[in-house]
Amino acid sequence: MPTLATTVDGLNLPNPFIIGSGPPGTNLNVIGKAFKEGWGAVIAKTVSLDASKVINVSPRYAKLMANDGQEVIGWENIELISDRPFKIWEEEFKKCKDMYPKGVLIASIMEEYRKDAWVEIVQRCEAAGVDAFELNFSCPHGLPERKMGAAMGQDPDILEEVCGWVKGAATKPFWAKMTPNITHIEDPSRASLRGGATGLSAINTIRSVCSVNLDSLRPEPNVEGYTTPGGYSSKAVRPIALRMVMEIATMIRNEFPGRSLSGLGGIENGNDAAQFILLGSDTVQVCTGVMKFGYECVKPMCDELLSFMAKHKFETLADFKGKSLDYFTTHADLVKRQAERKAAQKAAAASKTVKSDGEWTGDEFVKQSDALSRG
Ligand SMILES: Cc1cc2nc3c(=O)[nH]c(=O)nc-3n(C[C@H](O)[C@H](O)[C@H](O)COP(=O)(O)O)c2cc1C
Repeated sequence: MPTLATTVDGLNLPNPFIIGSGPPGTNLNVIGKAFKEGWGAVIAKTVSLDASKVINVSPRYAKLMANDGQEVIGWENIELISDRPFKIWEEEFKKCKDMYPKGVLIASIMEEYRKDAWVEIVQRCEAAGVDAFELNFSCPHGLPERKMGAAMGQDPDILEEVCGWVKGAATKPFWAKMTPNITHIEDPSRASLRGGATGLSAINTIRSVCSVNLDSLRPEPNVEGYTTPGGYSSKAVRPIALRMVMEIATMIRNEFPGRSLSGLGGIENGNDAAQFILLGSDTVQVCTGVMKFGYECVKPMCDELLSFMAKHKFETLADFKGKSLDYFTTHADLVKRQAERKAAQKAAAASKTVKSDGEWTGDEFVKQSDALSRG
């Protein structure tokens, strides 16, 4: 019987499905709901020390629908990190650990480019009992003027330095969450691991403009007639997320063996999760999927992942983690492999035309002689 239970960076998870930072982890009530439904861990909505600087607008979502008009395939948001006071979060983290002592609670944190701020937020979250951290270096909108989020995550030198500060202050494991809004995802990933991150998460949302309304001529989401580019998530981003996870996992395997990777971006079922694990993820996160299907979607996700494992006779997640990474190569190598296969097929076809002496007929005489002269 296969098992989904796994231990990652010392965290014991009943399954690899983690609530990704965002609305599904926005307060104690919903975090509790996630644990009750059986999620492997919860990453809370990103917190910062001074929530008064975080001012959200409404509407802040825009959805791209499939042609049937029913299914959401892409989701843009211009939502900021949590605007709830840090003091309340400290109390809720404490209560959460009292109510769900076995539930793995991960604080997502984001701060300005100041060592004292990062040290303070780490220490206060640890005092409130969280089990681990995710450092949000990746929110694509809203906070560049404070050099937070993706503005920080696009600068490998700063990432290495900030991870070093956190490494010095934290006693718990911490994952650095990468922005996809960069040409080479390996650069910030490598810098974070060099700085001391226990692992990485990828990806956050992709900078986007979801749509323009053809009646009002206004781009969406329309806030007082204007908008600003936001972050794109859901099913439509999955191929990009898979590519980045593959690149990071390959880098981890070659340069930082043993460091962990949490994959996310458009995961909606167990087969999606299997693909992220095959490309090197230790765990998988779901954010928009929970907003589309509700917390209870974790059960069919677990069942589908278990069926995949049973079909291939995998007993544990480790049995197939990273297994498909071996099937990536360069385009030049694909050309070489294809030419070799075609040549081998031709030779096999040619050798099949050689018949035993007793089978020769006068009609095929020339063909058989030629085949034999090729050896
Ligand atoms: C409405 C919304 C709010 C989000 N807020 C946060 C956040 O506070 N911190 C964070 O690290 N990521 C945040 N994210 C990004 C998600 O955690 C995730 O990286 C991204 O949406 C891709 O995964 P998904 O397709 O499963 O949603 C948010 C995403 C959405 C859709």
